[in-house]
Amino acid sequence: MQGSIVVLTGAGISKESGLATFRDPDGIWASVRIEDVATPQAFVRDEARVHAFYNARRQALRDPALQPNDAHMALAILEANWTGEMLLVTQNVDDLHERAGSQNVRHMHGELGKARCMACAIVAEVDGDLGVNSVCPACAAKGGLRPHIVWFGEVPFHMEEIEEKLANCALFVSIGTSGNVYPAAGFVEIAAAHGARTVELNLEPSATSSAFAERRLGPATQIVPQFVAELLGVVPPA
Ligand code: APR
Repeated sequence: MQGSIVVLTGAGISKESGLATFRDPDGIWASVRIEDVATPQAFVRDEARVHAFYNARRQALRDPALQPNDAHMALAILEANWTGEMLLVTQNVDDLHERAGSQNVRHMHGELGKARCMACAIVAEVDGDLGVNSVCPACAAKGGLRPHIVWFGEVPFHMEEIEEKLANCALFVSIGTSGNVYPAAGFVEIAAAHGARTVELNLEPSATSSAFAERRLGPATQIVPQFVAELLGVVPPA
């Protein structure tokens, strides 16, 4: 049985599919302020504006031109062929990992395709737009649905499970994240402290790059399939 793997992905893995990252020069936070659309206070202050921001991003996911790329596919192949455990933790709220075939995925920052009712706490699939008068499909409360997204100042999902897997994995791989946002940016420290091999695959060194034992730079669609092929013994290590 091979050792367990924890993979962390960020917006960079979806860039070549056509989705914007957050902190690249053409990223989302270059055109809209976090304080206006991605905090609980923003939602209280201007709910319609926050819904509009996530509605636009949810609609973009429905574009037929938006498809999983070779990096998403490579991680699904790794999961299917790895004899040990593999947990895919993503900061991304898109569904490209699932559409590529990954099964064991944890969206620590939530999912664009889901809404949460503030009256009954149910989490429901949402396909179209959410609005100030959206009705909860479970309790029928009107106007209580919010995007099932973790906003700044809120606690990410699945943290207990993630930290337990990081403390027991043989390999931690971080892909397409700038290492600017905690707790995800601190995962490498937990894995390294417990003796895991740590590898960063990114277009450029992240803010936490020095904490990784190994790093490979390049577009995810090139360096992720190569790394997976090495892990599966299909090609010799570079
Ligand atoms: N291949 C690999 N990496 C890439 C590519 C690519 N084609 N394009 C960009 N990158 C890298 C960038 O160099 C950058 O380091 O992806 C990273 C994207 O960083 P961010 O835009 O900060 O996105 P991310 O790290 O996922 O942000 C974390 O911040 O705003 C919050 O909740 C939001 O989940 C998000 C979190």
